[in-house]
Amino acid sequence: MQARTLTRRRFLLAAGATATAAGGSALLLSRQGGSAVAVGPTSPRVAAVEQRRRGRSAPVTEVALEAAPLLTGLGGAHGRTWAYGQAVPGAEIRLRAGSVLRATVKNGLPEPTTVHWHGIALRNDMDGVPGLTQPEIEPGATFDYEFTVPDAGTYFFHPHVGAQLDRGLYAPLVVEDPDEPGAYDQEVVLVLDDWLDGEDPERILSDLLAGGMGGMDMGSGSEMDHSGMDMGGDSDPGSGGLGMDVGDVEYRSYLVNGRPPSDPFTVEARRGERLRLRIVNAASDRPFRFAVGGHRFTVTHTDGFPVEPLDGDALLIGMGERYDVVVTVESDGVVPVVAVPEGAASGALALIRAGSGAAPPVNVSPAELDGKVLTAADLRAAEAVSLPSRAPDRDLLLRLDGTMQDYRWTINGRPFEPARLEEEGLQLREGERVRLRFENRSAMFHPMHLHGHTFQVLGTSDPGPRKDTVIVRPGETIEADFEADNPGLWALHCHNIYHAEAGMMTVLSYVS
Ligand code: C2O
Ligand code: CU
Repeated sequence: MQARTLTRRRFLLAAGATATAAGGSALLLSRQGGSAVAVGPTSPRVAAVEQRRRGRSAPVTEVALEAAPLLTGLGGAHGRTWAYGQAVPGAEIRLRAGSVLRATVKNGLPEPTTVHWHGIALRNDMDGVPGLTQPEIEPGATFDYEFTVPDAGTYFFHPHVGAQLDRGLYAPLVVEDPDEPGAYDQEVVLVLDDWLDGEDPERILSDLLAGGMGGMDMGSGSEMDHSGMDMGGDSDPGSGGLGMDVGDVEYRSYLVNGRPPSDPFTVEARRGERLRLRIVNAASDRPFRFAVGGHRFTVTHTDGFPVEPLDGDALLIGMGERYDVVVTVESDGVVPVVAVPEGAASGALALIRAGSGAAPPVNVSPAELDGKVLTAADLRAAEAVSLPSRAPDRDLLLRLDGTMQDYRWTINGRPFEPARLEEEGLQLREGERVRLRFENRSAMFHPMHLHGHTFQVLGTSDPGPRKDTVIVRPGETIEADFEADNPGLWALHCHNIYHAEAGMMTVLSYVS
């Protein structure tokens, strides 16, 4: 079992198809009755679409990023980890919709890396998927990313190599809307994370791959510490509908903006102030239930795109999802902002300090957590971003399956094999309306993320929200439509980083 190498890193090692895709010569994809030519990252179509996207005098934002080991732990912990710019999260990047982001990324890590700009409808050759859209950035090397950022919203970025995300390599990316009405007084970005505190996620992954649940040495405390399964001990069956087993990895702590509950991130505000909270779930394995103690809030956006405003007490946020909410501070004390891993008793904590008063206990559990818990299924797209109705030209089925026992997570029956991209990728053509149909046959939920596009979730609340990451519950089927307007080869995978690495990934390939 140790020979399992179904990692995204393998993209690079799989010579034929992937080298060809990144190298620009014609990649032939097989299909019924012959072969089709892939529109890869170096295709002239990719450059043409980028040119159309970029305004004549688009402003340029330049940033320099370095991914490097970070030797000091957080909040008194002692882990060694990896981070952007020696901080977890890395420094926020903020620019206006329509601008060009020019990011020079230096790899100061002992391993190859890349940067993926999660949720951005960017040019395919800047998407950061090693071996598919670019070569890996070797240790000591740099890579220059440059792309137009078309849509306003709350995004983030992270590596697309192995389980590097779970070390702390992530940072928020906020794209401002020049026409934003700005019906709030203060804006706060809250990045949520499940925190390994220095443990090696690649070792956790290989343990999961080698043994799955059956291979765990349950008698050994240390085994449980680094990759103990959530055995249901802290699970509330059916909570949030995500199933008994919501995560695969045992974490040391849960963070908001890199801070543990014992040293919480704190927002200074005053009573009556309207706060826009941009919430990013950058966790690798855990969904969070988010609430503001003693307050309701209004959801205004998900995955960057506006929704019809909807009030709730709590919000379920899968890995890779983002939500913007507006909350009016109705206290002149200290208000807990909590993000509890689904099924657990407590988790991450931040504070809104609107006056004097004692901080709540670190494990505070506001009643709102059990109030009206909103999910994407409750939301409707704002009219301005709802896709015009159109019959799909193409249906793509994604059957999600797998078990903890053998830790083999699959889409359409097989764990993803980059070397077999020619057969396994799903094909589509530019200009089509495409319908994705996610059928979850497994007992775990999967937050499914599509690169380079923002689909519209179909369902009970039509027109459903525009999203790039959608939770598919155990046994559930979710349909989502998008316009095939961004040619290239696009990863589509579960945003549980361990599931993706164990095979729950595929590629949507534009063909001509
Ligand atoms: Cu945020 Cu392919 O991922
Ligand atoms: Cu998954």
